[in-house]
Amino acid sequence: PAVEFGLDAPFSVEYHDAIGSTNDRARELAGEGADDAVVLADEQTGSRGRLDREWSAPAGGVWLSAVLRPDLPPAHAPALTLAAAVATTDAAREAGVPAEIKWPNDVLVTDANAETARGGKKLAGILTEMEGEAGRVSWVVVGVGVNANVPADSLPEDATSVREEVGDVDRRAFVQRLLERFDDLRADPEAAVEAWRDRSATLGQRVRVETATGEVVGEAVDVAVPGALVVETDDDERVRVHAGDCEHLRP
Ligand code: BTN
Repeated sequence: PAVEFGLDAPFSVEYHDAIGSTNDRARELAGEGADDAVVLADEQTGSRGRLDREWSAPAGGVWLSAVLRPDLPPAHAPALTLAAAVATTDAAREAGVPAEIKWPNDVLVTDANAETARGGKKLAGILTEMEGEAGRVSWVVVGVGVNANVPADSLPEDATSVREEVGDVDRRAFVQRLLERFDDLRADPEAAVEAWRDRSATLGQRVRVETATGEVVGEAVDVAVPGALVVETDDDERVRVHAGDCEHLRP
């Protein structure tokens, strides 16, 4: 059963020991009119990742989804995902993990072997879903999954956890910090994008981005509001990519 999880943050938090997916529960609450609500779970049995991928969410992680009703046109909603990536990165850094962001929203541990330029193992991911009418957002669910105190043998390949990097973290403090930081940035897309740039593992890298309409290869030179990656292609063209899967290539 859900219990209240007392936090000093501008969100009401519903806590579950175990749940299918916090994003699914948050969508249910959104349908009932909830606003500034967070669903948090110790374990998820049916969690979802981006691009219909499965997401492993064993006990010990920070699995949460925020329900928001921002007064935004849908095209600006990606800035909320960037804000969540920044907030997660800052909470991880405060826990002692040198984290950075791979576009658009993978939180990675900084790769000590910079020669590979690929970014380190994945610590956290974000899945944003929304519904809108008449050009306005009706609700947004921002789902954040952090491998906090997840043991090594429960992690997917290419993933790491706070436990693996620096030892266990106080998850209540981690969630508090994450939500406070998210609250600072959520109404200010410019500030979210600027903070994102400062924490980026992608800018300056040679990248390949798979988009719905094909592949873009070149140097990642900037991120533009509300979250598009600007890629300079080998023909010196600047292309804005709004969504896709990004791979860092060897220089
Ligand atoms: C990704 O593919 O990188 C995004 C992963 C997002 C996982 C989180 S965990 C909390 C929330 N509930 C879900 O079912 N998914 C998101």
